[in-house]
Amino acid sequence: MSSIGKDQPIRTLSERGRLLGHVCVPGDKSISHRALLFGAISEGITTIKGLLPAEDPISTANCLRAMGVKISPISKEEIITVHGVGLNGLKEPIDILNCGNSGTTMRLMLGLLVGQTNQHFVLTGDKSLCQRPMKRVGQPLKIMGGQVSGRCEGNYAPLSVEGKNLRGAVIGTPVASAQIKSAILLAALTADGPTTVIEPAQSRDHSERMLKAFGANLKVGGEMGRHITVTPGAILKGQSITVPGDISSAAFWLVAGSIIPGSEITIENVGLNPTRTGILEILQQMGADLDLLNTKDIAGEPVGDICVRYKQNLNAFNLTDEIMPRLIDEVPILSVAACFCNGTSKITGASELRIKETDRLAVMARQLSAMGAKIDEHSDGLTIQGKEPLHGCHLDSETDHRVAMSLAIASIMANGPSTMSRSDASAVSYPDFWNDLKRLQKK
Ligand code: S3P
Repeated sequence: MSSIGKDQPIRTLSERGRLLGHVCVPGDKSISHRALLFGAISEGITTIKGLLPAEDPISTANCLRAMGVKISPISKEEIITVHGVGLNGLKEPIDILNCGNSGTTMRLMLGLLVGQTNQHFVLTGDKSLCQRPMKRVGQPLKIMGGQVSGRCEGNYAPLSVEGKNLRGAVIGTPVASAQIKSAILLAALTADGPTTVIEPAQSRDHSERMLKAFGANLKVGGEMGRHITVTPGAILKGQSITVPGDISSAAFWLVAGSIIPGSEITIENVGLNPTRTGILEILQQMGADLDLLNTKDIAGEPVGDICVRYKQNLNAFNLTDEIMPRLIDEVPILSVAACFCNGTSKITGASELRIKETDRLAVMARQLSAMGAKIDEHSDGLTIQGKEPLHGCHLDSETDHRVAMSLAIASIMANGPSTMSRSDASAVSYPDFWNDLKRLQKK
């Protein structure tokens, strides 16, 4: 259950001070959700090393437990075990499934549940999640015979699902969204024939990689892996999964190390799946000083360490719709980076940001403007004038984990102290963020 919005003390942020040392970011959030979900519907035991012990994956685990899946307690350092119940073994829950703050939990769960015949499910979430659009998943699932209803013609939670017999289909998705794609792939596992998802651009492909590893009959084709076909019938078998560190969490240190004078940070064991590494390309465009070390493949995902050093005179950058799916969650911290580059950075094609945990374009524009940044907000992006001096002030995460962590980095570069409301939102994806920051920051 999300703790965001509960009374939280206002945090005093530590101004100035370079960041030095090594950090091991927590497990990838997308891979953690999928390891739990796919483990649950497999036969046999799945073990997960490095699972992200944060609020979002815990929401996924709790929903699965409510449907009879045995999952060991989730804590740091523990190897998690999931006792799979098979594709048709989920039990109808006796209560509402609470997805907390997690869009991935709710959207992937819809795909999983629509094909559980003769069972009824109700899903809800926190205030933010109940305002996020769900029809983008319900609609394609309807083409397969799925039945999802909810407020505003099925667009908003609480949602209700009536499990049905599904038919295979060819479905083109209007946006490149791994959550929509993954929901359809999950539903496809129980359909009566093959299902093909066609994306307008490739979104993160963790589901494809992991479903194949669990034994699903899944084929990736088309230009840039945009056509994915699942043929039902294969039995999924429990696996041993190792979750790499989350590049979306590493992003805060990558930007901090680049913009804070005197910094040098090595981030260990970061997932480098090419569908997620857009941030590295943008940092290169900026002229940042980065080294990739110890690159290897672990359990079907490329990983490596990244060493980042402070670099003077970073260049402004352009983010367009083409790269957006590969750095969608890094736009808040990149908007902070833009404040410290020479010249004007432009972010376009980012309207999806408006329907994340918060409207991230509006929230970042509002919060960074309060510090004195020169930002123009557009319907699909931001224009940010670099090198305007920022001053400390009172900040607010507005309940968004990635906003909290992005603003923490901005505040280090501001003149004068800052404070932050609802800073513990970071626990959604990075429970140790504030401890890691304290440890890395040298006065
Ligand atoms: C995710 C996909 C992305 C991303 C989210 C996690 C996933 O969302 O923003 O944080 O795990 O599939 P969209 O599918 O809406 O782009």
